Amino acid sequence: MCGIVGAHTRGGSVVASLIQGLKTLEYRGYDSAGVGVVHGGQIEVRKRAGRLAELEGALASDPLPGAPIGIGHTRWATHGEPTDQNAHPHVDPDGRLALVHNGVIENYLELRRELMAEGAVFLSETDTEVLAHLIGRQLAQGDTPLAALQASLARVEGYYAIALLVNGAEPQLLCARHGPPLCVGMSADGAWLGSDVLALLPHTREIQYLEDGDVAELAVDGIKIVDGRGRAVERPVRTIEWNAESAEKGGYEHYMLKEIHEQPDVLARTLEGRLRPDTGDVDLGGEGWEDSDLANVERVQVVACGTALHAGYIARYMIEGLAGVPVDIDFASEFRYRDPRLVKNTMALAISQSGETADTLAALRLARDLGARPTSICNVVGSTVMRESSATLLTEAGPEIGVASTKAFVAQVVAAYLLALRMGRANGRISREQGREMIEELKRLRARMETVLAPEAVEHIRELADRHRNVKGFFFLGRGINFPIALEGALKLKEISYMHAEGYPAGEMKHGPIALIEPDLTTVVVNSIGGVSEKSRSNIEQVKARGGRVIAVGSDRQSHEIAEEAVVVPESSEWLSPVLNVIPLQLLAYHIADLRGCDIDKPRNLAKSVTVE
Ligand code: F6R
Repeated sequence: MCGIVGAHTRGGSVVASLIQGLKTLEYRGYDSAGVGVVHGGQIEVRKRAGRLAELEGALASDPLPGAPIGIGHTRWATHGEPTDQNAHPHVDPDGRLALVHNGVIENYLELRRELMAEGAVFLSETDTEVLAHLIGRQLAQGDTPLAALQASLARVEGYYAIALLVNGAEPQLLCARHGPPLCVGMSADGAWLGSDVLALLPHTREIQYLEDGDVAELAVDGIKIVDGRGRAVERPVRTIEWNAESAEKGGYEHYMLKEIHEQPDVLARTLEGRLRPDTGDVDLGGEGWEDSDLANVERVQVVACGTALHAGYIARYMIEGLAGVPVDIDFASEFRYRDPRLVKNTMALAISQSGETADTLAALRLARDLGARPTSICNVVGSTVMRESSATLLTEAGPEIGVASTKAFVAQVVAAYLLALRMGRANGRISREQGREMIEELKRLRARMETVLAPEAVEHIRELADRHRNVKGFFFLGRGINFPIALEGALKLKEISYMHAEGYPAGEMKHGPIALIEPDLTTVVVNSIGGVSEKSRSNIEQVKARGGRVIAVGSDRQSHEIAEEAVVVPESSEWLSPVLNVIPLQLLAYHIADLRGCDIDKPRNLAKSVTVE
């Protein structure tokens, strides 16, 4: 939901670095983009509706002057259409400042009316512009930039990450956070800020995350942070191990395809150093996963959104089935607005790739306030979800750039399996021998994933995609631990190909959706060998009997024989079959979208990190 960057350097021009930073953040929104600098006592801004490439084109024909200080923005529109006027940065009428914003100012209409009554003229329909006027007003009254920013933010209701560029004899760069993520870091050249670490990695690996309420001043020789109560504070410096190359396409046509193919490596990284075959146990890393923390957990409450929620459904099967602990799971956006009742000794488990999803974070906080112990499965070190958890199981997916989540999902499912194993060992439900066998299954998984990703297997899915790319819609069906894979297959297809797709528990089909079956609707049945495979076979027959076309995906050979088409997936323990079965569905969505000419890494209307409600 919008990406912001800023730099205050010792000399030269920051424009190219700002654009480079925005490229790494484009996954956060790509409706419009803009940059602003201070040069020769003037604020200079270039901004354009559309992709970053439009802005680059504008800069090529009308370059910004070289300046060592500037800000930039890539937008996911909330208030006002994606037009040049509504693009950020926004400036105040007297050219005192330029501002970029990620978030929502909820009382902007009231503030706008107040400012208009005083004669302010607005150039955009955005909520952000009120802040430019408010800060400009404070600066005109003689406030320092820090005081002007603090006074203006005190008037604002909502949430924000802001970068503020102030004109003057000594141009200044400030930033503030309340809600959406913001990090800062120093390099030999100066100070940098960004919505996430990817924007800073070309300059530094030493990152400080701002806390809610923090305001920071970024000078070439250091960063001063002041907390919400106006006290100077130091935020921990975290070293980020990701490198800038891991956020590049590495020869693949799209990030999504690269990330799908990275999944065997992601598995290996997520397991690295964690397996303890001697004791039949695992070490989840970090604090808070000791026997004493886990043995008495009476219930787990999972909260998550989207793909991470699907990983959560799988976690439910694993934690209940393996560790014997009951699990509740909610859409984070629903949990936070109902009146949930948690039993004592509840462990709240947030699952999130970014660690910044607004609903997931709010749900985790609510569960904590209701007495649960907050824990998480998360991919981003230092993210808000991680910082607010008593224990975090870090997935090692590396930066996920494709808007459609793939490798993070697989890492979350593997993490859930590790957690179930650890909990089961802690509470005695899993014996040492069973633990060893579970670990052996994990070790066999990588080679099996590679089989699913072999060139001939991928080619087969492309051919399937070609045959089915123009059907009216798709059903994805699955049972048991593969039911969430049906949900995930449908979500992947919807978000990148814009085809209508629905995921259902196979047994539910008879209760309504079966009415939709016809030759022009493709049904994908996910069925691997296990306790429910026979039941799913019956569902294939039922669809066929009504003239439907079925693609069977999984290790159940008998399903392949009765379905019209099949994707063969190697056999594994049923618990881990989702990790294998999801890959063909990711590839199917990818190839259908590619054949339909869709913009795979930047699907319409979406943004990767949903930091607004
Ligand atoms: C779908 C997708 C989203 C995210 C969801 C949660 O491909 O990526 O559904 O899974 O927005 O995001 P995180 O995991 O960052 O909390």
